[in-house]
Amino acid sequence: MALPPGPRSTLLTTIRVARTPTEALARYRERYGDPFFLPMANGPIVATAQPELIKELFASRDATLYGSFGFESTRALIGEHTVLLMEGDKHKRERKLLTPPFHGERMRAYGEVMIEATRAAFAELAAGDEFVAIERTTRVSLEAIVRAVFGFSTREDITAAQEAVLATLGAAKPYLLFSPKTQVAPFGLGPWATFQKRSAELDALLYAQIERTRASCEGRDDILAMLVQARYDDGGEMSDRDIRDELRTLLIAGHETTAVSLAWTLYALHRHPETLARARAEVDAVGDDASPEALARLPYLGAVIDETLRRYPIIDVVFRRLLRPATFAGYELPAGVILCPAIVLVHQDPNIYPDPERFDPERFLGKKPRPHEYLPFGGGNRRCIGAAFSLYESRLALATVLRELELELLDGELPAVRKNIVLAPKGGVRMRLRARR
Ligand code: HEM
Repeated sequence: MALPPGPRSTLLTTIRVARTPTEALARYRERYGDPFFLPMANGPIVATAQPELIKELFASRDATLYGSFGFESTRALIGEHTVLLMEGDKHKRERKLLTPPFHGERMRAYGEVMIEATRAAFAELAAGDEFVAIERTTRVSLEAIVRAVFGFSTREDITAAQEAVLATLGAAKPYLLFSPKTQVAPFGLGPWATFQKRSAELDALLYAQIERTRASCEGRDDILAMLVQARYDDGGEMSDRDIRDELRTLLIAGHETTAVSLAWTLYALHRHPETLARARAEVDAVGDDASPEALARLPYLGAVIDETLRRYPIIDVVFRRLLRPATFAGYELPAGVILCPAIVLVHQDPNIYPDPERFDPERFLGKKPRPHEYLPFGGGNRRCIGAAFSLYESRLALATVLRELELELLDGELPAVRKNIVLAPKGGVRMRLRARR
Protein backbone atom coordinates (compact mmCIF):
# COMPACT_ATOMS: atom_id res chain seq x y z
CA MET A 1 0.00 0.00 0.00
CA ALA A 2 1.14 3.60 -0.65
CA LEU A 3 2.10 6.06 2.04
CA PRO A 4 -0.68 7.37 4.34
CA PRO A 5 -2.48 10.53 3.18
CA GLY A 6 -0.92 13.91 3.87
CA PRO A 7 -0.07 17.31 2.37
CA ARG A 8 1.87 17.42 -0.91
CA SER A 9 4.18 20.39 -0.66
CA THR A 10 7.48 19.71 1.09
CA LEU A 11 8.25 23.41 1.35
CA LEU A 12 4.93 24.49 2.87
CA THR A 13 4.77 21.55 5.23
CA THR A 14 8.30 22.16 6.45
CA ILE A 15 7.61 25.86 7.02
CA ARG A 16 4.30 25.25 8.82
CA VAL A 17 5.70 22.57 11.10
CA ALA A 18 8.72 24.73 11.93
CA ARG A 19 6.62 27.81 12.65
CA THR A 20 3.77 26.42 14.73
CA PRO A 21 4.65 22.78 15.39
CA THR A 22 1.76 21.78 17.62
CA GLU A 23 -0.96 23.54 15.64
CA ALA A 24 0.38 22.26 12.31
CA LEU A 25 0.48 18.65 13.52
CA ALA A 26 -3.04 18.92 14.94
CA ARG A 27 -4.36 20.44 11.70
CA TYR A 28 -2.78 17.80 9.47
CA ARG A 29 -4.09 15.00 11.65
CA GLU A 30 -7.58 16.44 11.57
CA ARG A 31 -7.47 16.82 7.80
CA TYR A 32 -5.79 13.56 6.78
CA GLY A 33 -6.55 11.12 9.61
CA ASP A 34 -4.09 9.07 11.63
CA PRO A 35 -1.44 8.01 10.69
CA PHE A 36 -0.64 10.91 8.38
CA PHE A 37 2.24 11.61 6.02
CA LEU A 38 4.45 14.70 6.21
CA PRO A 39 6.82 15.44 3.32
CA MET A 40 9.51 17.31 5.28
CA ALA A 41 12.74 18.81 3.92
CA ASN A 42 14.82 16.52 6.14
CA GLY A 43 12.94 13.34 5.25
CA PRO A 44 9.57 11.62 4.71
CA ILE A 45 7.70 11.36 8.01
CA VAL A 46 4.76 9.19 9.01
CA ALA A 47 3.24 10.59 12.20
CA THR A 48 0.73 9.12 14.61
CA ALA A 49 -0.95 9.99 17.87
CA GLN A 50 -2.75 6.66 18.23
CA PRO A 51 -1.65 5.11 21.52
CA GLU A 52 -2.04 1.57 20.18
CA LEU A 53 0.24 2.27 17.21
CA ILE A 54 2.79 3.95 19.45
CA LYS A 55 2.64 1.01 21.82
CA GLU A 56 3.37 -1.37 18.96
CA LEU A 57 6.24 0.79 17.73
CA PHE A 58 7.87 1.12 21.16
CA ALA A 59 7.37 -2.56 21.94
CA SER A 60 9.70 -3.68 19.16
CA ARG A 61 12.93 -5.12 20.51
CA ASP A 62 14.28 -5.73 17.01
CA ALA A 63 17.49 -3.70 16.91
CA THR A 64 17.69 -3.95 13.12
CA LEU A 65 14.36 -2.19 12.54
CA TYR A 66 14.56 1.37 13.87
CA GLY A 67 17.45 3.80 13.70
CA SER A 68 18.13 7.23 15.08
CA PHE A 69 16.97 10.47 13.50
CA GLY A 70 17.05 14.15 14.36
CA PHE A 71 20.38 14.37 16.17
CA GLU A 72 22.81 14.69 13.23
CA SER A 73 23.36 18.36 14.02
CA THR A 74 24.76 17.51 17.46
CA ARG A 75 27.80 15.80 15.92
CA ALA A 76 29.99 18.91 16.09
CA LEU A 77 29.03 19.51 19.69
CA ILE A 78 29.19 15.96 20.99
CA GLY A 79 31.32 13.82 18.70
CA GLU A 80 30.74 10.40 17.16
CA HIS A 81 30.57 8.13 20.19
CA THR A 82 27.12 9.11 21.38
CA VAL A 83 24.10 7.00 22.21
CA LEU A 84 22.00 9.59 20.37
CA LEU A 85 23.48 8.58 17.00
CA MET A 86 24.13 4.88 17.57
CA GLU A 87 21.87 2.24 16.06
CA GLY A 88 21.25 -1.50 16.29
CA ASP A 89 23.38 -3.64 18.59
CA LYS A 90 25.88 -0.85 19.17
CA HIS A 91 23.11 1.33 20.59
CA LYS A 92 21.86 -1.54 22.78
CA ARG A 93 25.34 -2.19 24.13
CA GLU A 94 25.92 1.47 24.92
CA ARG A 95 22.61 1.88 26.73
CA LYS A 96 23.42 -1.13 28.87
CA LEU A 97 26.49 0.73 30.09
CA LEU A 98 24.92 4.17 30.45
CA THR A 99 21.63 3.26 32.09
CA PRO A 100 22.62 1.81 35.52
CA PRO A 101 23.94 5.11 36.95
CA PHE A 102 20.52 6.63 36.22
CA HIS A 103 18.39 4.03 38.01
CA GLY A 104 15.76 5.53 40.29
CA GLU A 105 17.26 4.31 43.54
CA ARG A 106 20.65 5.82 42.72
CA MET A 107 19.16 9.31 42.67
CA ARG A 108 19.39 9.53 46.45
CA ALA A 109 23.09 10.31 46.08
CA TYR A 110 22.28 13.53 44.22
CA GLY A 111 19.53 14.96 46.43
CA GLU A 112 21.62 17.41 48.42
CA VAL A 113 23.40 18.57 45.25
CA MET A 114 20.07 19.36 43.60
CA ILE A 115 18.77 21.30 46.61
CA GLU A 116 22.02 23.26 46.92
CA ALA A 117 21.99 23.97 43.19
CA THR A 118 18.49 25.45 43.51
CA ARG A 119 19.47 27.64 46.46
CA ALA A 120 22.56 28.87 44.61
CA ALA A 121 20.55 29.75 41.50
CA PHE A 122 18.23 32.09 43.42
CA ALA A 123 20.74 33.24 46.06
CA GLU A 124 21.54 36.67 44.73
CA LEU A 125 17.92 37.78 44.31
CA ALA A 126 16.47 40.23 46.85
CA ALA A 127 12.79 40.83 47.56
CA GLY A 128 11.31 42.90 44.74
CA ASP A 129 13.87 41.75 42.12
CA GLU A 130 12.52 40.71 38.75
CA PHE A 131 14.07 37.76 36.92
CA VAL A 132 13.54 35.43 33.99
CA ALA A 133 12.68 31.99 35.35
CA ILE A 134 14.46 30.06 32.63
CA GLU A 135 17.76 31.79 33.40
CA ARG A 136 17.52 30.61 37.02
CA THR A 137 16.37 27.09 36.21
CA THR A 138 19.19 26.83 33.66
CA ARG A 139 21.62 27.49 36.50
CA VAL A 140 19.97 24.76 38.57
CA SER A 141 20.20 22.14 35.84
CA LEU A 142 23.72 23.10 34.81
CA GLU A 143 25.04 22.89 38.35
CA ALA A 144 23.27 19.55 38.83
CA ILE A 145 24.99 18.13 35.73
CA VAL A 146 28.41 19.57 36.48
CA ARG A 147 28.31 18.07 39.99
CA ALA A 148 26.22 14.89 39.72
CA VAL A 149 27.24 13.83 36.19
CA PHE A 150 30.75 15.27 35.72
CA GLY A 151 31.62 14.88 39.42
CA PHE A 152 33.18 18.31 40.00
CA SER A 153 33.05 19.09 43.70
CA THR A 154 35.03 22.18 44.73
CA ARG A 155 33.36 25.55 44.17
CA GLU A 156 36.28 26.63 41.99
CA ASP A 157 36.01 23.56 39.73
CA ILE A 158 32.21 23.79 39.55
CA THR A 159 32.35 27.43 38.48
CA ALA A 160 35.11 26.82 35.93
CA ALA A 161 33.16 23.92 34.39
CA GLN A 162 29.92 25.90 34.28
CA GLU A 163 31.67 28.79 32.56
CA ALA A 164 33.33 26.48 30.03
CA VAL A 165 29.99 24.80 29.24
CA LEU A 166 28.18 28.11 28.79
CA ALA A 167 30.98 29.50 26.62
CA THR A 168 30.90 26.40 24.40
CA LEU A 169 27.11 26.34 24.09
CA GLY A 170 27.08 30.08 23.44
CA ALA A 171 29.61 29.69 20.60
CA ALA A 172 27.70 26.73 19.10
CA LYS A 173 25.51 28.85 16.83
CA PRO A 174 22.65 26.79 15.32
CA TYR A 175 23.76 27.55 11.73
CA LEU A 176 27.21 26.15 12.51
CA LEU A 177 25.69 22.92 13.79
CA PHE A 178 23.06 22.51 11.10
CA SER A 179 25.17 23.42 8.10
CA PRO A 180 28.54 21.63 7.87
CA LYS A 181 29.50 24.02 5.05
CA THR A 182 29.80 26.81 7.62
CA GLN A 183 32.26 24.75 9.66
CA VAL A 184 35.32 26.48 8.26
CA ALA A 185 37.83 28.79 9.88
CA PRO A 186 39.66 30.90 7.27
CA PHE A 187 43.02 32.01 8.76
CA GLY A 188 41.93 30.44 12.05
CA LEU A 189 39.27 33.14 12.47
CA GLY A 190 35.48 33.42 12.56
CA PRO A 191 32.61 31.79 14.49
CA TRP A 192 33.71 28.21 13.78
CA ALA A 193 37.21 28.93 15.08
CA THR A 194 35.71 30.52 18.20
CA PHE A 195 33.49 27.49 18.76
CA GLN A 196 36.44 25.13 18.37
CA LYS A 197 38.51 27.13 20.83
CA ARG A 198 35.76 27.16 23.47
CA SER A 199 35.09 23.50 22.85
CA ALA A 200 38.78 22.64 23.32
CA GLU A 201 38.78 24.54 26.62
CA LEU A 202 35.82 22.49 27.82
CA ASP A 203 37.57 19.33 26.65
CA ALA A 204 40.67 20.22 28.66
CA LEU A 205 38.52 20.34 31.82
CA LEU A 206 36.66 17.14 30.96
CA TYR A 207 39.80 15.14 30.13
CA ALA A 208 41.52 16.33 33.31
CA GLN A 209 38.47 15.25 35.29
CA ILE A 210 38.40 11.85 33.55
CA GLU A 211 42.08 11.36 34.37
CA ARG A 212 41.53 12.33 38.02
CA THR A 213 38.59 9.94 38.20
CA ARG A 214 40.58 7.06 36.70
CA ALA A 215 43.31 7.67 39.26
CA SER A 216 40.82 7.44 42.14
CA CYS A 217 37.06 7.12 42.51
CA GLU A 218 37.23 7.13 46.28
CA GLY A 219 34.27 8.80 47.93
CA ARG A 220 32.70 9.52 44.56
CA ASP A 221 29.16 8.57 43.62
CA ASP A 222 28.72 10.72 40.53
CA ILE A 223 27.94 9.37 37.08
CA LEU A 224 31.42 9.86 35.65
CA ALA A 225 32.86 7.72 38.46
CA MET A 226 30.44 4.96 37.50
CA LEU A 227 31.21 5.23 33.79
CA VAL A 228 34.95 4.93 34.41
CA GLN A 229 34.36 1.68 36.28
CA ALA A 230 31.70 0.30 33.92
CA ARG A 231 32.47 -2.57 31.55
CA TYR A 232 30.76 -3.75 28.38
CA ASP A 233 29.60 -7.39 28.31
CA ASP A 234 32.85 -8.38 26.57
CA GLY A 235 34.86 -6.84 29.41
CA GLY A 236 35.92 -3.80 27.39
CA GLU A 237 35.88 -0.32 28.89
CA MET A 238 35.13 3.11 27.51
CA SER A 239 38.08 5.10 26.20
CA ASP A 240 38.62 8.66 27.40
CA ARG A 241 37.29 9.94 24.11
CA ASP A 242 34.15 7.77 24.39
CA ILE A 243 33.53 9.04 27.90
CA ARG A 244 34.03 12.62 26.79
CA ASP A 245 31.43 12.20 24.05
CA GLU A 246 28.89 10.62 26.39
CA LEU A 247 29.46 13.30 29.04
CA ARG A 248 28.71 15.88 26.39
CA THR A 249 25.67 13.84 25.33
CA LEU A 250 24.29 13.87 28.86
CA LEU A 251 24.91 17.60 29.05
CA ILE A 252 23.14 18.35 25.77
CA ALA A 253 20.26 15.95 26.43
CA GLY A 254 19.80 16.82 30.08
CA HIS A 255 20.62 20.45 30.64
CA GLU A 256 18.18 22.55 28.65
CA THR A 257 15.38 19.98 28.83
CA THR A 258 15.21 19.99 32.62
CA ALA A 259 15.68 23.76 32.81
CA VAL A 260 12.80 24.40 30.43
CA SER A 261 10.46 21.93 32.11
CA LEU A 262 11.17 23.58 35.48
CA ALA A 263 10.39 26.99 34.01
CA TRP A 264 7.08 25.62 32.66
CA THR A 265 6.32 24.23 36.13
CA LEU A 266 6.85 27.60 37.81
CA TYR A 267 4.73 29.23 35.13
CA ALA A 268 1.87 26.72 35.39
CA LEU A 269 1.81 26.75 39.19
CA HIS A 270 1.75 30.52 39.45
CA ARG A 271 -1.12 30.75 36.99
CA HIS A 272 -3.17 28.54 39.31
CA PRO A 273 -3.13 29.97 42.84
CA GLU A 274 -5.12 27.10 44.41
CA THR A 275 -2.74 24.55 42.95
CA LEU A 276 0.21 26.60 44.18
CA ALA A 277 -1.27 26.86 47.68
CA ARG A 278 -1.93 23.12 47.82
CA ALA A 279 1.59 22.22 46.66
CA ARG A 280 3.11 24.64 49.17
CA ALA A 281 0.96 23.33 52.03
CA GLU A 282 2.13 19.79 51.23
CA VAL A 283 5.78 20.84 51.26
CA ASP A 284 5.40 22.87 54.48
CA ALA A 285 3.66 19.98 56.21
CA VAL A 286 6.73 17.70 56.04
CA GLY A 287 8.84 20.15 58.06
CA ASP A 288 12.23 21.76 57.59
CA ASP A 289 14.29 18.68 58.31
CA ALA A 290 12.61 16.45 55.70
CA SER A 291 15.13 14.42 53.73
CA PRO A 292 15.45 14.90 49.96
CA GLU A 293 13.81 11.49 49.46
CA ALA A 294 10.84 12.52 51.59
CA LEU A 295 10.44 15.70 49.53
CA ALA A 296 10.79 13.83 46.25
CA ARG A 297 8.06 11.41 47.31
CA LEU A 298 5.40 14.06 48.00
CA PRO A 299 2.42 12.97 45.90
CA TYR A 300 0.91 16.32 44.96
CA LEU A 301 4.31 17.82 44.12
CA GLY A 302 4.99 14.83 41.87
CA ALA A 303 1.59 15.20 40.22
CA VAL A 304 2.31 18.89 39.50
CA ILE A 305 5.51 17.93 37.67
CA ASP A 306 3.78 15.10 35.79
CA GLU A 307 0.93 17.36 34.71
CA THR A 308 3.37 20.06 33.58
CA LEU A 309 5.12 17.53 31.34
CA ARG A 310 1.75 16.48 29.92
CA ARG A 311 0.32 19.94 29.36
CA TYR A 312 3.62 21.49 28.22
CA PRO A 313 5.67 18.64 26.70
CA ILE A 314 9.04 20.13 25.93
CA ILE A 315 9.84 17.43 23.38
CA ASP A 316 6.80 17.32 21.13
CA VAL A 317 7.76 14.45 18.83
CA VAL A 318 10.28 11.61 18.67
CA PHE A 319 11.52 9.80 15.60
CA ARG A 320 12.40 6.27 14.49
CA ARG A 321 13.98 5.89 11.05
CA LEU A 322 13.14 2.62 9.33
CA LEU A 323 16.37 0.76 8.64
CA ARG A 324 14.53 -1.70 6.38
CA PRO A 325 11.07 -1.89 4.77
CA ALA A 326 8.31 -2.57 7.30
CA THR A 327 4.54 -2.69 7.68
CA PHE A 328 3.08 -0.02 9.93
CA ALA A 329 -0.67 0.46 10.46
CA GLY A 330 -1.28 -1.61 7.31
CA TYR A 331 1.05 0.53 5.16
CA GLU A 332 4.08 -1.09 3.61
CA LEU A 333 6.73 1.53 4.14
CA PRO A 334 10.15 1.62 2.47
CA ALA A 335 13.42 1.90 4.37
CA GLY A 336 14.26 5.51 5.15
CA VAL A 337 10.74 6.56 6.18
CA ILE A 338 10.75 8.19 9.61
CA LEU A 339 8.04 7.09 12.03
CA CYS A 340 6.99 9.79 14.45
CA PRO A 341 5.00 9.34 17.67
CA ALA A 342 3.47 12.81 18.13
CA ILE A 343 3.74 13.14 21.91
CA VAL A 344 2.10 16.54 22.00
CA LEU A 345 -1.05 15.28 20.25
CA VAL A 346 -1.36 12.24 22.51
CA HIS A 347 -1.13 14.53 25.55
CA GLN A 348 -3.96 16.65 24.17
CA ASP A 349 -6.29 13.80 23.27
CA PRO A 350 -9.62 14.52 25.03
CA ASN A 351 -10.43 10.80 25.11
CA ILE A 352 -7.41 10.25 27.33
CA TYR A 353 -7.30 13.62 29.11
CA PRO A 354 -10.75 15.23 29.33
CA ASP A 355 -10.59 19.02 28.92
CA PRO A 356 -6.94 18.68 27.85
CA GLU A 357 -6.11 22.41 27.92
CA ARG A 358 -6.81 22.56 31.64
CA PHE A 359 -3.81 22.28 33.98
CA ASP A 360 -4.93 19.77 36.57
CA PRO A 361 -2.43 17.74 38.63
CA GLU A 362 -5.33 15.66 40.00
CA ARG A 363 -5.16 13.65 36.78
CA PHE A 364 -1.97 12.05 38.08
CA LEU A 365 -2.69 11.93 41.80
CA GLY A 366 -2.51 8.30 42.87
CA LYS A 367 -2.79 7.24 39.22
CA LYS A 368 -0.06 5.89 37.03
CA PRO A 369 -0.69 6.73 33.37
CA ARG A 370 -0.33 4.05 30.72
CA PRO A 371 3.13 4.44 29.13
CA HIS A 372 1.86 4.86 25.56
CA GLU A 373 -0.66 7.51 26.67
CA TYR A 374 1.87 9.59 28.58
CA LEU A 375 5.24 9.95 26.91
CA PRO A 376 7.19 13.06 27.91
CA PHE A 377 10.33 10.91 27.89
CA GLY A 378 9.55 8.95 24.71
CA GLY A 379 9.56 5.19 24.99
CA GLY A 380 10.85 1.78 24.00
CA ASN A 381 14.52 1.12 23.39
CA ARG A 382 15.40 4.82 23.08
CA ARG A 383 13.41 6.11 26.08
CA CYS A 384 15.12 8.97 27.89
CA ILE A 385 17.98 7.67 30.03
CA GLY A 386 17.79 10.66 32.36
CA ALA A 387 14.05 10.53 33.17
CA ALA A 388 14.48 9.55 36.84
CA PHE A 389 17.33 12.05 37.23
CA SER A 390 15.27 14.84 35.76
CA LEU A 391 12.12 14.04 37.75
CA TYR A 392 14.10 13.86 40.98
CA GLU A 393 15.76 17.17 40.24
CA SER A 394 12.47 18.84 39.26
CA ARG A 395 10.76 17.70 42.44
CA LEU A 396 13.58 18.81 44.72
CA ALA A 397 14.04 22.13 42.93
CA LEU A 398 10.32 22.84 43.13
CA ALA A 399 10.11 21.81 46.80
CA THR A 400 13.06 24.10 47.59
CA VAL A 401 11.53 27.06 45.76
CA LEU A 402 8.13 26.55 47.43
CA ARG A 403 9.68 26.22 50.85
CA GLU A 404 12.01 29.16 50.67
CA LEU A 405 10.64 31.71 48.21
CA GLU A 406 7.45 33.51 47.34
CA LEU A 407 7.34 34.32 43.66
CA GLU A 408 5.00 36.28 41.47
CA LEU A 409 4.33 35.69 37.79
CA LEU A 410 4.63 38.82 35.66
CA ASP A 411 3.55 37.28 32.35
CA GLY A 412 0.10 36.42 31.06
CA GLU A 413 -0.49 33.43 28.80
CA LEU A 414 2.71 32.33 27.04
CA PRO A 415 2.93 30.32 23.81
CA ALA A 416 5.42 27.49 23.41
CA VAL A 417 8.22 28.38 21.00
CA ARG A 418 11.00 26.24 19.55
CA LYS A 419 14.33 26.70 21.38
CA ASN A 420 16.96 24.36 19.95
CA ILE A 421 15.38 20.92 20.37
CA VAL A 422 12.75 21.85 22.95
CA LEU A 423 9.47 23.79 23.14
CA ALA A 424 9.96 26.58 25.67
CA PRO A 425 7.71 29.30 27.10
CA LYS A 426 8.18 32.42 24.97
CA GLY A 427 10.41 34.94 26.73
CA GLY A 428 11.42 32.42 29.42
CA VAL A 429 8.73 33.40 32.02
CA ARG A 430 9.21 36.74 33.76
CA MET A 431 8.80 36.60 37.54
CA ARG A 432 9.45 38.66 40.65
CA LEU A 433 10.75 37.56 44.04
CA ARG A 434 8.07 38.77 46.42
CA ALA A 435 9.70 37.58 49.65
CA ARG A 436 11.98 35.01 51.20
CA ARG A 437 10.13 32.76 53.60
C1 HEM B 1 12.41 17.14 31.57
C2 HEM B 1 13.58 16.66 31.17
C3 HEM B 1 13.76 15.72 30.03
C4 HEM B 1 12.89 15.36 29.04
C5 HEM B 1 11.45 15.83 28.83
C6 HEM B 1 13.58 14.40 28.19
C7 HEM B 1 13.00 13.81 27.09
C8 HEM B 1 13.66 12.92 26.26
C9 HEM B 1 13.07 12.33 25.08
C10 HEM B 1 11.66 12.57 24.57
C11 HEM B 1 14.02 11.53 24.52
C12 HEM B 1 13.86 10.70 23.25
C13 HEM B 1 13.20 9.39 23.61
C14 HEM B 1 12.75 8.56 22.44
O1 HEM B 1 13.25 8.75 21.31
O2 HEM B 1 11.87 7.69 22.66
C15 HEM B 1 15.21 11.60 25.35
C16 HEM B 1 16.37 10.89 25.11
C17 HEM B 1 17.49 10.98 25.91
N1 HEM B 1 17.62 11.69 27.09
FE1 HEM B 1 16.20 12.86 27.95
N2 HEM B 1 14.85 14.20 28.67
C18 HEM B 1 15.00 14.96 29.81
C19 HEM B 1 16.11 15.01 30.62
C20 HEM B 1 17.24 14.26 30.46
C21 HEM B 1 18.36 14.23 31.37
C22 HEM B 1 18.44 14.99 32.68
C23 HEM B 1 19.31 13.41 30.82
C24 HEM B 1 20.67 13.01 31.35
C25 HEM B 1 21.35 13.67 32.26
C26 HEM B 1 18.77 12.90 29.57
C27 HEM B 1 19.43 12.02 28.73
C28 HEM B 1 18.89 11.48 27.57
C29 HEM B 1 19.61 10.60 26.68
C30 HEM B 1 21.06 10.13 26.84
C31 HEM B 1 18.73 10.27 25.64
C32 HEM B 1 19.02 9.37 24.43
C33 HEM B 1 18.57 7.96 24.67
C34 HEM B 1 18.81 7.05 23.47
O3 HEM B 1 18.91 7.54 22.34
O4 HEM B 1 18.89 5.81 23.68
N3 HEM B 1 17.52 13.43 29.38
N4 HEM B 1 14.96 12.46 26.40
